[in-house]
Amino acid sequence: MQLSFSAPSTTGTGALVIAALEGGAFTAAAAEADRKTGGALKRALDASRFSGKAAQILEVLAPAGMKASRLLLVGLGKPAEFDRPQAEELAAGVVGRLLASGESAVTFAIDLPKGSKMKPASLAAHLAMGAKLRSYTFHRYRTKGLDEITPTLKKVAVGTSDVPGARKSWQALSAIAEGMFLARDLVNEPPNVLYPAEFARRARALTKLGVKVEVLGVAQMRKLGLNALLGVGQGSAHDSQLVVMQWNGARGKKGAPVAFVGKGVCFDSGGLSLKPSASMMGMKGDMGGAAAVTGLMHALAARKAKVNAVGVIGLVENMPSGTAQRPDDVVKSLSGQTIEVLNTDAEGRLVLADALTYTQKRFKPQFVIDLATLTGAIMVALGGEHAGLFCNDDTLAERLAQAGREEGEPVWRLPLGSGYDKMLKSKIADMKNIGGPHAGSITAAQFIQRFVEGKTPWAHLDIAGVAWQDGEQKALIPSWGTGWGVRVLSRLTADHYEG
Ligand code: BES
Ligand code: MN
Ligand code: ZN
Repeated sequence: MQLSFSAPSTTGTGALVIAALEGGAFTAAAAEADRKTGGALKRALDASRFSGKAAQILEVLAPAGMKASRLLLVGLGKPAEFDRPQAEELAAGVVGRLLASGESAVTFAIDLPKGSKMKPASLAAHLAMGAKLRSYTFHRYRTKGLDEITPTLKKVAVGTSDVPGARKSWQALSAIAEGMFLARDLVNEPPNVLYPAEFARRARALTKLGVKVEVLGVAQMRKLGLNALLGVGQGSAHDSQLVVMQWNGARGKKGAPVAFVGKGVCFDSGGLSLKPSASMMGMKGDMGGAAAVTGLMHALAARKAKVNAVGVIGLVENMPSGTAQRPDDVVKSLSGQTIEVLNTDAEGRLVLADALTYTQKRFKPQFVIDLATLTGAIMVALGGEHAGLFCNDDTLAERLAQAGREEGEPVWRLPLGSGYDKMLKSKIADMKNIGGPHAGSITAAQFIQRFVEGKTPWAHLDIAGVAWQDGEQKALIPSWGTGWGVRVLSRLTADHYEG
């Protein structure tokens, strides 16, 4: 899909999007269209339930008196509430309707409602963002019915009084959208295709954006001592991998980087502590943390972020077999701490433990944030509305919460504490990999915190509830894999760590 910005116009071919306020009053462009069509728009409005509420759409086909093939009158809602999210959802609604409708072009002629806090450039860029995010498809494995689902919409033009400003804002947003698409693709791919080495191969493609990518195989990891990570993958026919991505965009190339670590379990069967079949479905998405980190590195590089950033992802497949890790095994992690593995389905924390140690030892980052589809319990607590946040640093936590609110990827902080930490006591090793029956997300976070070194600010995002969506699709996410994390972390970086 090709996106462009141009001076406002209502004279183009294809679909034309115009707006009305809550109550039904036309904006200037809509009033003009109504005039040209001899009042057809007003008659259509009167014959419908359209009232100008946010996200409402009234469609008029083949209007006489205009070149446009159809008019889409969209509601802006209350001007004071009209902001970036409303602009994105509006454009997403329009594109959702038109994407495979037969229409090939759409022009947005949305005048900024008086009383909105937005600037014209920002409105245009966020209309484009909504259009772009809604245009995502994952049809790679369909061979049938393609004529109905293949997108026909090829061109999206956004009219704006500030074309240069819109283009500038769009540069960064389009980089973020690309990163989200990469993350969605990775989550959507089936696990027979996207096993650790294939994931690593795709991460390697970031090289073309200027990201330095290293891939460590089993032999290298064994030599270094990443035994907690390797233990998880030892039952699989596919070798485990550790991918290290570096983007050095800061003026001072030597400055301490920000670091992101992702859980990349390409399939989580549970291992010998096998999951029941219903719970195993969807476990191809258990690499959602690694997908987000990879998508984020793509976004940072594509928008040439002025930051030094590292992304480290631990890629494994958790399978039962004759070589699989046993419940009762004890492994020595890279940190030197020993872990009694009592449940092989609590594998994500084992992967993160070593990936975190590796990242801190090698890079001495300003902060480290890990993302992981870590616990079913976080879905019990927060559903799909918030990711769980655990953090040892109030400033970092507040910055993440703020970025999450602004980018539509909200997080909710949960507590840590020594009482929870005690639940990880092992009879024979430094810790066990499961807590008790309660507070499963917290004991998991507590486990990870044992691998945070010194005073390093650390945040853990449990994204098990938000990395994919099974119920109703969100307006901007027309896909099972959501790409959650790219937006909030790009924003966090932009607001506080670039310059
Ligand atoms: N990948 C799962 C967590 C998960 C569950 C993500 C459902 C998304 C949806 C994780 O590896 C896991 O199995 N966690 C266990 C931990 C338990 C064994 C302590 C869980 O949540 O049940
Ligand atoms: Mn598991
Ligand atoms: Zn898992």
